[in-house]
Amino acid sequence: MWFSRRKPVRFKLFASSEEACAQIALHRPAKVLAGQKEICLVRLSDGFYAVDNACPHQGAPLSEGKCLQDDRIECPFHRYTFDLRSGKDLKGMCNDLKAYPVELRPEGLFIDLNDQA
Ligand code: FES
Repeated sequence: MWFSRRKPVRFKLFASSEEACAQIALHRPAKVLAGQKEICLVRLSDGFYAVDNACPHQGAPLSEGKCLQDDRIECPFHRYTFDLRSGKDLKGMCNDLKAYPVELRPEGLFIDLNDQA
Protein backbone atom coordinates (compact mmCIF):
# COMPACT_ATOMS: atom_id res chain seq x y z
CA MET A 1 0.00 0.00 0.00
CA TRP A 2 1.29 3.47 -0.90
CA PHE A 3 1.30 6.27 1.66
CA SER A 4 2.26 9.78 0.78
CA ARG A 5 3.32 12.41 3.28
CA ARG A 6 2.79 15.68 1.53
CA LYS A 7 3.98 18.85 3.13
CA PRO A 8 1.35 21.51 3.63
CA VAL A 9 1.57 24.61 1.48
CA ARG A 10 1.92 27.73 3.60
CA PHE A 11 0.40 31.06 2.59
CA LYS A 12 0.93 34.41 4.21
CA LEU A 13 -2.46 36.08 4.57
CA PHE A 14 -1.32 39.31 6.25
CA ALA A 15 2.07 40.96 6.56
CA SER A 16 1.92 41.46 10.31
CA SER A 17 -0.15 40.46 13.29
CA GLU A 18 -1.24 44.11 13.66
CA GLU A 19 -2.53 44.18 10.08
CA ALA A 20 -4.39 40.89 10.58
CA CYS A 21 -6.08 42.16 13.73
CA ALA A 22 -6.91 45.50 12.08
CA GLN A 23 -8.45 43.88 8.99
CA ILE A 24 -10.36 41.01 10.63
CA ALA A 25 -12.87 42.19 13.21
CA LEU A 26 -13.58 40.00 16.19
CA HIS A 27 -16.37 37.47 15.47
CA ARG A 28 -16.92 38.77 11.92
CA PRO A 29 -16.28 36.13 9.26
CA ALA A 30 -14.19 37.38 6.34
CA LYS A 31 -13.31 35.95 2.94
CA VAL A 32 -9.59 35.75 2.20
CA LEU A 33 -7.64 34.09 -0.59
CA ALA A 34 -4.87 31.59 0.05
CA GLY A 35 -3.50 31.18 -3.45
CA GLN A 36 -6.62 30.46 -5.52
CA LYS A 37 -8.59 29.06 -2.59
CA GLU A 38 -11.34 31.00 -0.83
CA ILE A 39 -11.10 30.73 2.92
CA CYS A 40 -13.47 31.93 5.62
CA LEU A 41 -11.28 33.49 8.29
CA VAL A 42 -12.62 34.28 11.74
CA ARG A 43 -10.93 35.97 14.67
CA LEU A 44 -12.09 34.70 18.04
CA SER A 45 -10.91 35.89 21.43
CA ASP A 46 -8.16 33.25 21.48
CA GLY A 47 -6.95 33.47 17.90
CA PHE A 48 -7.75 33.04 14.21
CA TYR A 49 -9.56 30.09 12.67
CA ALA A 50 -9.88 29.16 9.02
CA VAL A 51 -12.34 26.92 7.21
CA ASP A 52 -13.40 26.46 3.59
CA ASN A 53 -15.52 29.40 2.49
CA ALA A 54 -17.96 27.16 0.60
CA CYS A 55 -20.58 25.49 2.76
CA PRO A 56 -20.51 21.71 2.21
CA HIS A 57 -24.32 21.67 1.95
CA GLN A 58 -24.95 23.80 -1.15
CA GLY A 59 -21.91 26.01 -1.42
CA ALA A 60 -23.04 29.21 0.28
CA PRO A 61 -20.23 31.61 1.24
CA LEU A 62 -19.69 31.13 4.95
CA SER A 63 -17.90 34.48 5.10
CA GLU A 64 -21.41 35.95 4.75
CA GLY A 65 -22.67 33.87 7.66
CA LYS A 66 -22.46 34.85 11.28
CA CYS A 67 -20.58 33.75 14.34
CA LEU A 68 -22.62 32.29 17.14
CA GLN A 69 -21.68 31.68 20.73
CA ASP A 70 -19.40 28.76 21.51
CA ASP A 71 -17.23 29.35 18.45
CA ARG A 72 -19.77 28.23 15.88
CA ILE A 73 -20.49 29.69 12.46
CA GLU A 74 -23.94 29.72 10.90
CA CYS A 75 -24.37 29.36 7.15
CA PRO A 76 -26.32 32.27 5.58
CA PHE A 77 -28.48 30.00 3.38
CA HIS A 78 -30.03 27.24 5.48
CA ARG A 79 -28.50 28.03 8.87
CA TYR A 80 -26.57 24.84 9.38
CA THR A 81 -23.94 25.40 12.00
CA PHE A 82 -20.31 24.32 12.12
CA ASP A 83 -17.64 24.28 14.79
CA LEU A 84 -14.98 26.79 13.71
CA ARG A 85 -12.17 24.91 15.44
CA SER A 86 -12.82 21.51 13.89
CA GLY A 87 -15.19 22.23 10.97
CA LYS A 88 -17.65 19.70 12.38
CA ASP A 89 -21.27 19.96 11.18
CA LEU A 90 -23.13 20.43 14.45
CA LYS A 91 -26.57 19.55 13.09
CA GLY A 92 -25.46 16.32 11.47
CA MET A 93 -27.09 17.36 8.19
CA CYS A 94 -24.14 17.41 5.79
CA ASN A 95 -20.41 16.85 5.54
CA ASP A 96 -18.00 18.61 7.86
CA LEU A 97 -16.16 21.72 6.75
CA LYS A 98 -12.45 21.50 6.12
CA ALA A 99 -10.58 23.40 8.82
CA TYR A 100 -7.02 24.65 8.29
CA PRO A 101 -4.23 25.43 10.75
CA VAL A 102 -3.55 29.13 11.17
CA GLU A 103 -0.49 30.60 12.86
CA LEU A 104 -0.24 34.19 14.04
CA ARG A 105 3.34 35.38 14.31
CA PRO A 106 4.79 38.89 14.66
CA GLU A 107 5.78 38.74 10.99
CA GLY A 108 2.34 37.76 9.75
CA LEU A 109 -0.67 35.49 9.73
CA PHE A 110 -0.06 32.18 7.99
CA ILE A 111 -2.35 29.39 6.85
CA ASP A 112 -1.32 25.85 5.95
CA LEU A 113 -3.26 24.14 3.18
CA ASN A 114 -2.55 20.62 2.16
CA ASP A 115 -2.05 20.21 -1.55
CA GLN A 116 -5.39 18.46 -2.00
CA ALA A 117 -7.21 21.51 -0.67
S1 FES B 1 -25.77 26.08 1.81
FE1 FES B 1 -25.05 26.15 3.86
S2 FES B 1 -26.61 25.21 5.00
FE2 FES B 1 -27.30 25.09 2.95
